[in-house]
Amino acid sequence: MSVESPVTLDRKRIQELIRREEEQLNARTPASGRLFRRANAVLSAGVASSYQLRDPWPIYLERGAGPKVWDVDGNEMWDFHNGFGSMVQGHAHPAIGRAIADRYGLGTHFAAPTEDAVVVAEDLARRWGLPTWRYTNSGSEATMDAIRIARAYTGRDTVMKIFGSYHGHHDTVMVSIGVEYDKIGDREDLASLPYGAGIPQAVVDLTIPVPFNDAGAMERRIARLDAEGRKPACVIMEAAMMNLGVVLPEPGYLEEVRDITRRHGVVLIFDEVKTGLAIAAGGATEKFGVTADLITLAKSLGGGVPTGAIGGTEEVFSVVADGSVFQVGTYNGNPLGMAAARANLHEVLTPEAYEHLDHLNDRILAGCEQVIRRHSLPGYAVGIGAKGCVTFAPTRVIDYETFKAHQDKDLTELAWLFNMNRGIFMTPGREEEWTLSVSHTDEAVDAYVAVFDEMAAELTA
Ligand SMILES: Cc1ncc(COP(=O)(O)O)c(C=O)c1O
Repeated sequence: MSVESPVTLDRKRIQELIRREEEQLNARTPASGRLFRRANAVLSAGVASSYQLRDPWPIYLERGAGPKVWDVDGNEMWDFHNGFGSMVQGHAHPAIGRAIADRYGLGTHFAAPTEDAVVVAEDLARRWGLPTWRYTNSGSEATMDAIRIARAYTGRDTVMKIFGSYHGHHDTVMVSIGVEYDKIGDREDLASLPYGAGIPQAVVDLTIPVPFNDAGAMERRIARLDAEGRKPACVIMEAAMMNLGVVLPEPGYLEEVRDITRRHGVVLIFDEVKTGLAIAAGGATEKFGVTADLITLAKSLGGGVPTGAIGGTEEVFSVVADGSVFQVGTYNGNPLGMAAARANLHEVLTPEAYEHLDHLNDRILAGCEQVIRRHSLPGYAVGIGAKGCVTFAPTRVIDYETFKAHQDKDLTELAWLFNMNRGIFMTPGREEEWTLSVSHTDEAVDAYVAVFDEMAAELTA
């Protein structure tokens, strides 16, 4: 739902508010500023990962408990960032804490299989309806290995992905993510563009992007690549895009993709690193009722301990089982991560947990929609399971092209600053969304809506 005829916002006023809020945030976070100066001496650009960067300094956190986090200046905030969507359990959940403490006393790493790895795979197999599993330590490792499995299974090199989708930081998928609108190329022939430096052109050329929510464009591109002798090994995609805010699949789209990939003998990989365990017990696969050949998990699997997984059919996994593909890693199935994942799956992410997350998300989405309508803002609230966002755009975003053409960068920046100054910890960057946790309450989501209302009132005053 969005507003029929939104107000025209005063761009000068938005800039003034951004400046005011920036000054306020800097004044509230002097200890982060000091830590940044110290960090700069030993950490490149002062952070552990470039996704943690922010001008003039990142907000350094000290601790988290349940739905809240505290920064090094002592500012208390409701956490809607939740570790880029990893902490659907909330911080320091006692069941996961117990599992980690118990496991520590028994030893934390052997690089030999343990029972927990079997128990976790049994649970995941039930949730996803996919029989075969392997572990990794991150989402990037999961998508990297899933693509290798698909390449080995089909004997092909080309990889198809959705333009604008993020699947981790290995070379094959660091292609056609965030680029300028005028560079993306024609819809039928979208450009393969490296995301940052250091990615070999030869690798970039192997990855072919297509638009989201356009099964026809996907099938035509597969057919053309086939005619050129470079049919894709796989299509890797999120069933609902979670890196342009939230972009849901149009009705029928995923079913068509399933049908196209099956007919062309292309392995379908649903990257569920963000959707898996966050939008339903069985992720996007359960929510949309379409099963891929391979799925990848990470973020919310290990309850804050780095853990990832790949699930798939026996048929596609046969190349791992017969030893042709080396799906390996010293820390794969690490006992600490597996103990945390077991407690997470058995004791935390229960059917009642998903009922609670659905209730909270309905409430926050409805609250944000009411604010949008009351103030006639150009935008709409969209979400699913624990995930959602307000997209500031006069029309609905359905793919990268519409995102680039319509998303209001300034408003998104202002919303982030407004939140941070009023006790709502959110992901920096315009492409992100909120993640709720099982420890969030009505009070937490109402706080989010109240801050949004305050911003809307100031914008339209
Ligand atoms: C959909 C998706 N796939 C893969 C990844 C990579 O996961 P990681 O950062 O754990 O390597 C991400 C990270 O944001 C993601 O959103």
